[in-house]
Amino acid sequence: MEAVVDQLEQRLLASLESEAFRPLGLATGRTMEPLYAALVSRLRDWPTDRLQLLRQHWRSFNLDEYVGLAAEHPSSFSAFMGHHLVGPLGLDPAQVSLPDGATADPEAAADRYAAAIRSAGGMGLQLLGLGSNGHVGFNEPPCGPEVRCRVVRLSSSTRSQNACAFQGRPGLVPEQAITLGLQEILAADELHLIVTGASKAGILRKALDRDGDPEVPASWLRRHPRLWLWVDDAAWGEEGP
Ligand code: GLP
Repeated sequence: MEAVVDQLEQRLLASLESEAFRPLGLATGRTMEPLYAALVSRLRDWPTDRLQLLRQHWRSFNLDEYVGLAAEHPSSFSAFMGHHLVGPLGLDPAQVSLPDGATADPEAAADRYAAAIRSAGGMGLQLLGLGSNGHVGFNEPPCGPEVRCRVVRLSSSTRSQNACAFQGRPGLVPEQAITLGLQEILAADELHLIVTGASKAGILRKALDRDGDPEVPASWLRRHPRLWLWVDDAAWGEEGP
């Protein structure tokens, strides 16, 4: 994770020095936990005035949120961000945006979220994890590169994958989510896909072997001119993808 954090730190420093802070695209999930821990530890070593400047300029948009969970719900992605980044870094929650999962009108919330990202100028650096069925954000297969921010129905495999945050019970995982589409994700200046653990080796191999396969949404990422891939030995697999 230190190598990814090096890159993130450099980007954050450069954007502060050039006074051109572009919104960050942030992800949740177990993959991101050690990354945020390492990033927090690195940024806390910054001189106080520089860290304060970062807090002032911080602007980020998360990829997704469950429909039906209030931000305060312990299993919401909003709570995840509060626990892993906002609290430890002392960020203003108003500068860390996620889709509004608790609204009575999720479609309208998705439209509002997309509009907020557009008016912020789109994402600079976008962090991404990889779902075990090849999803990015919550863009479940099948999906093409043109899909936009919207409400999606989660597959049973994704609800099982994420059950660990819901007492291990897939039935407690919400059935729907609001997610950025591949269209908004591919519009970021640079993408950083982080894949760890042997359980992701197979789907990573598919994502790299296929060039734009609707059944493996992550395969569309290959079309981005600045895609960084950060993979640990276990996810790379013994023979490599
Ligand atoms: C989740 C999220 C994705 C995340 C992925 C991997 O469902 N919607 O944004 O990157 O699945 O999760 P994990 O890191 O826990 O394997």
